[in-house]
Amino acid sequence: MSSIVVYALCLSLIVQLCSSVCLHDAVQKDTPVVSPPTLFPHTTRISSRATSWVPQLPLRVTPWYLPGESALLSPAQNTQLQSAIRDVTKTIANMLSVRRSEGPLLLNRDMNKFCRSVWGDPSLPNYKRCGSRDMSYYGERCLDVVIPESHLHGYEVWPMNGTEPTLVTPEGSGVPDTDFLLYVRVAQTEKCALQPLVIAYASYCQLDQSGRPIAGVIVFCPKRLREGVYQHSHIVQVSLHEMLHALGFSSRLFEHWIDCSFHESGHECSSRSRVTNTDESGQLRIYTPNVMQKMGEHLGGGNVGAPLENQETPSSSHWESRIMQGSILTASLSPPHLTYIDPMTLAAFQDMGWYRVNTTMNDQFIWGKGAGVSFGLPFTCQETLSGFFCRDESQIGCHHLHLDKGNCSTDTFLDGCHIYKPLLHGGECWLKQDIQGPEEIYHPQSRCFFSNLTKELKHESVKGRCYLHRCLAPNSFQVKVQGSEWIDCPAGELIKVKGFEGVLMCPNGRLCLGFGQPSLPTSASITASISTIFPSATVPGIIVKVKMMHGFKWNKEKKMLLMDEIVGVIAQHAGVQRCFLHASTEPDKDLSFTLMAGGSNNCPLHTPGSSPYLTLMTLIDYPITYDSLQFSTVTIRLCSPVSHNPILRKVGLIGGCFCGIFFVLLILTVSWCKHRARILQVRDVYHSQVINTEQKHDVVGV
Ligand SMILES: *[C@@H]1O[C@H](CO)[C@@H](O)[C@H](O)[C@H]1NC(C)=O
Ligand SMILES: *[C@@H]1O[C@H](CO)[C@@H](O)[C@H](O)[C@H]1NC(C)=O
Ligand SMILES: *[C@@H]1O[C@H](CO)[C@@H](O)[C@H](O)[C@H]1NC(C)=O
Ligand SMILES: *[C@@H]1O[C@H](CO)[C@@H](O)[C@H](O)[C@H]1NC(C)=O
Repeated sequence: MSSIVVYALCLSLIVQLCSSVCLHDAVQKDTPVVSPPTLFPHTTRISSRATSWVPQLPLRVTPWYLPGESALLSPAQNTQLQSAIRDVTKTIANMLSVRRSEGPLLLNRDMNKFCRSVWGDPSLPNYKRCGSRDMSYYGERCLDVVIPESHLHGYEVWPMNGTEPTLVTPEGSGVPDTDFLLYVRVAQTEKCALQPLVIAYASYCQLDQSGRPIAGVIVFCPKRLREGVYQHSHIVQVSLHEMLHALGFSSRLFEHWIDCSFHESGHECSSRSRVTNTDESGQLRIYTPNVMQKMGEHLGGGNVGAPLENQETPSSSHWESRIMQGSILTASLSPPHLTYIDPMTLAAFQDMGWYRVNTTMNDQFIWGKGAGVSFGLPFTCQETLSGFFCRDESQIGCHHLHLDKGNCSTDTFLDGCHIYKPLLHGGECWLKQDIQGPEEIYHPQSRCFFSNLTKELKHESVKGRCYLHRCLAPNSFQVKVQGSEWIDCPAGELIKVKGFEGVLMCPNGRLCLGFGQPSLPTSASITASISTIFPSATVPGIIVKVKMMHGFKWNKEKKMLLMDEIVGVIAQHAGVQRCFLHASTEPDKDLSFTLMAGGSNNCPLHTPGSSPYLTLMTLIDYPITYDSLQFSTVTIRLCSPVSHNPILRKVGLIGGCFCGIFFVLLILTVSWCKHRARILQVRDVYHSQVINTEQKHDVVGV
């Protein structure tokens, strides 16, 4: 049996998100918000004493997918979207707790809309109640979404004196187990069209008694999702960012934040007199107690308000980019592995008054740490002393977290300040790369260091390079360059390395800070390939191999579930029913299993006319989510039919590969094709698919 190994390069599919735009403020401005009839925004008595005995439990965000709209995306993209939303709701449940109300969630109707007249005489028993309905009332909307009647409270009209109202619409059944109802819409809206960089935007549309948002909508622009460039972690990041706006970090909600600091001792919550204010330099800041305390601790000075983005006027729902680089709530987001839920964001949610915040979620947040209260002001960022900003645009340096190389650049939110933005495509020290400097090492444990190490006796300029590191203690570590021993790298010092000219700078306060390892994309370490063995005349099966490149140890149950997932995807794309394909073996050690094909009485063959080959051949970039890891198929391919068995022809030779989110070299094994000519035929077959990665294919052995 000859076997041919084809190496395929899966192009990195990430695009720089730094230029993405958040539309929240603009959208929120146009979203009418409905509050319960009893809410008078500026009263001081906001919630009753009784509620202080209700325990605070994790916030339950329930997504509500609008029927029909899923047609805009492929089943795979829908799966991807839903899995991203699941991850976001999980993160939010970890982060925020609320006092849950009893029963299913019901949304309010806007009395100004459904009611034409209200009893206005205080002496009447039905004073302030609706006296006649507005016949043109069309129901409620949340942004552009028509809220289903079953999610809404009923309403009635009252006679002038009587005690019996006339029911117009009964109470809806509501949405069970829900603290925040999220309408998920996929639509190429005008906003998507006007702002081609927008992936998603969100707004809230209903508040509860205490002013907490209880319903909102998130709109995904399908064009962006379909481009396939945004992978799981990006969609999660953008959705989380938008959700945090909808849950309370929104300039229009600042005035609704309440002070519940004495709530535990039985006092009522009161409205906050002022959340934002402008400082002497004209910078708008949030001045609430927890935010000020966290901002002060972070910068290493006294209490100081946390600044909002000054490029978005008159008010912003984002933190100032210069001072909060890397926070999930800046207007321009760093790539997901460099973005954190920072302490100031958590403090803000605490100060909203509606939530109890899980402070153990405090992620690593290094930007500006200990740099003093004047850190990041437009006139101080030119001094590069803090080590956070840069000036020289010509040299490659290191992003401040030292995971990636960076280039010194600026953007509209930085007010002329320059920072090292991560160089994507090749700048990730933690990813294996094809091209590397002679002394560099790219590895999950590598970090970016400023150095001009060279083996040759020539002048080298200092720039960002990737070397291995290992932590000894907080802020204490060793480095290893290609061909050297492990050497101590005292934080803040320049060191020499035996056998090299030049120096290496050991960063201070950036590495090994005891936060644990930064969370790199989990799937980055996984590469899987599916290979197939062409079916023989007697065994109508194909063998699917999923190869885990980095030795993931999975138990049998997990393997079975992943197998099931893969079979489902193949069946879907082959245009055959799921029951048509069955695994005849359990996944073995390497996660390979034999897939059998065949109809039976209970499983009729698919409708004639549609060709299963062609659908299979388009199985490109098809995400499979399993165990919160995202695998993307790069290609699943077919040999031209050689079998005369119609069933076999349907399955044909499938070979393909999966790749993790960010990545890498994939191995694609195509076995038992009898001769090279057939392999060439294979390549011809899918040549027409215009797959970028095809050009990188290289036949290595026959
Ligand atoms: C708080 O967050 C941590 C880390 O994400 C998580 O392990 C823990 O379960 C959370 N606690 C609560 C009460 O949700
Ligand atoms: C309602 O009650 C007021 C006095 O309480 C009375 O003047 C009025 O006629 C009553 N209206 C109707 C429609 O019964
Ligand atoms: C550096 O960043 C700029 C954008 O600010 C980009 O256009 C340029 O290509 C980058 N340089 C390198 C070497 O990647
Ligand atoms: C490396 O950089 C240092 C500091 O800028 C400089 O003194 C030294 O001459 C450089 N060495 C080489 C080999 O370029």
